[in-house]
Amino acid sequence: MSVGTWTQRVFLLLGIYHSATRTLASTPELHEPPANIAVVGAGIGGAAAAFYLRQEFGPTVKIDVFEPADVGGRLATAEMANQEYETGGMVIHPLNLHMKHFVDKLGISVRQEVPSKKAVFDGSELTFEESDWFIVNFLRMLWRYGLNYLFMQMWVESVMDKFMRIYQYQQYGYSFTSMERLLHAMGGDDFLSLMNHTLEETMRAEGFAQIFLNNVVAPLTRQTYGQSVRINGLAGALSLTGADSGLWAVDGGNKRVCSGLLYHSKSDLIRARVTNISFKVRPSKTGPSTGFYEVSYVGDGGAGHSMYDIVVIATPLHQGQSDISFSGLSSPVVSQFPGIYHQVFSILVHGVLNTSYLGVTRPASEFTVSEILTADSKDNVMYSLTSVDPVHIPPGYSRPPASQTKVWKVFSPRALDQEDLRRMFLSWDSVSQTPWLAYPTYRPPQRLTPPFILHSRLYYLSAVEWAASSMEMSAISARNIALLAHHRWHKQMGQIDQEDLHTRLRGEL
Ligand SMILES: Cc1cc2nc3c(=O)[nH]c(=O)nc-3n(C[C@H](O)[C@H](O)[C@H](O)COP(=O)(O)OP(=O)(O)OC[C@H]3O[C@@H](n4cnc5c(N)ncnc54)[C@H](O)[C@@H]3O)c2cc1C
Ligand SMILES: *[C@@H]1O[C@H](CO)[C@@H](O)[C@H](O)[C@H]1NC(C)=O
Ligand SMILES: *[C@@H]1O[C@H](CO)[C@@H](O)[C@H](O)[C@H]1NC(C)=O
Ligand SMILES: *[C@@H]1O[C@H](CO)[C@@H](O)[C@H](O)[C@H]1NC(C)=O
Repeated sequence: MSVGTWTQRVFLLLGIYHSATRTLASTPELHEPPANIAVVGAGIGGAAAAFYLRQEFGPTVKIDVFEPADVGGRLATAEMANQEYETGGMVIHPLNLHMKHFVDKLGISVRQEVPSKKAVFDGSELTFEESDWFIVNFLRMLWRYGLNYLFMQMWVESVMDKFMRIYQYQQYGYSFTSMERLLHAMGGDDFLSLMNHTLEETMRAEGFAQIFLNNVVAPLTRQTYGQSVRINGLAGALSLTGADSGLWAVDGGNKRVCSGLLYHSKSDLIRARVTNISFKVRPSKTGPSTGFYEVSYVGDGGAGHSMYDIVVIATPLHQGQSDISFSGLSSPVVSQFPGIYHQVFSILVHGVLNTSYLGVTRPASEFTVSEILTADSKDNVMYSLTSVDPVHIPPGYSRPPASQTKVWKVFSPRALDQEDLRRMFLSWDSVSQTPWLAYPTYRPPQRLTPPFILHSRLYYLSAVEWAASSMEMSAISARNIALLAHHRWHKQMGQIDQEDLHTRLRGEL
């Protein structure tokens, strides 16, 4: 998509961001604010939840954030050759307005941009290589795939247009109880059907050629989710925005946003792992009996438990990833929503690439491609290979050509052994392999996604990932849950699961 249209749209939306006023329900608030809230997990989801919960519930509520590991979760860095490199979530799209808002609010800089160039590797050679010239790339694509490339951009833009409505809805305080409700409010039945069809089915139905799906679309879904074009249409469309210009990252590492949000929200970080969440009813002398959640945890300081009015779970509950048990809850908990997380290895190698491995015949000193995407082929042990830049770009930095020792990042379904490394690199002096349970394995038709509400005041932020997983998706879910928790606490039901918001809010602009 051209940078021009993006920029215009960002201005329009930032306008909404700053000018819209919340339509507060006219009924007086029925309750005191809650006394204390627990957030489980300090990745971007949990940190953003703390930020928005503070915004919704005001200064008096105590917010505890539980995290046994590093703040940042799947946003993490590793050190190599005296520099830090991202090993988890890496890039942020220019239309990810919550992420943009966070860095602005926290006064964190955006990392200086280093121009990149893409290629596609089919397991034996490069089938596409980006040129420095936009028009050359465009003509090549046109020559090979007719108008598919242009139509792809238009299709992605039409999906994004509907998706972006969430910012307006949230700005006006609207919230949703499930991903299905949210998607339906964004664009009706057609939009919701992106969830229960594969990207392949959706794009084929739109008239895209299979060869285009194999050669252009699959490399992008593999780079983003390590999966084929058989992921759901929404996750697919978001993967395709990875081909847009203007992708950015946070100076010093994306995880800085998480610690920044925790600090800004004045929440208390508790270095412990939550083991059990139990609902308890406490009779009250003055009014009706009230319920509390007892959160049990183990940390360096031993085991403990505390009572909370509201709990937000901001970590996937699937596959025993968080090992939290629940008791005293009658409503469904996540075991009813089967699914697994996809394993991806993020491997940093400081070395010299064997460009012949990619079938490149010209001298390595002239090879300046920085992002090698891969086609879906059994010969490919990798999803992508990227020449990565440190989280902070030193003054005068320029990305070295492939003839020099530098840091490469391989995304692979498995760890690389010495044999793999010998094939891909001429020499190397350090290797760091990080395994991730990175995002859901998307296998549409997706049955219902987990709800945002697990029990009366127990919320599940990570449910959002079954539509698509990204930093911005977690941030969107965080804001949705803060609004939902607020409206349910104050019984403002008119702000929940509203349909037709797009038409109704048009008059407000
Ligand atoms: C390799 C990789 C590349 C990616 N690339 C991108 C990208 O380029 N752009 C993008 O936008 N997204 C990307 N993503 C996705 C993005 O990183 C995630 O969607 C996002 O970081 C998820 O954040 P979260 O806070 O929801 O979950 P997490 O970051 O997983 O946070 C959950 C936290 O909960 C903690 N926790 C777990 N169990 C417990 C417990 N019992 N008690 C207390 N705490 C607990 C965990 O330690 C963790 O810190 C990528 C992900 C990976 C793995
Ligand atoms: C997809 O969801 C829509 C709307 O919920 C439904 O009408 C349709 O039958 C579903 N299709 C499949 C293939 O599951
Ligand atoms: C969770 O806590 C409740 C109440 O404290 C307790 O009854 C239950 O046995 C605990 N469950 C587990 C698996 O620890
Ligand atoms: C580089 O890769 C090519 C092609 O895979 C291979 O034939 C060659 O042996 C490799 N070079 C080294 C030095 O390993």
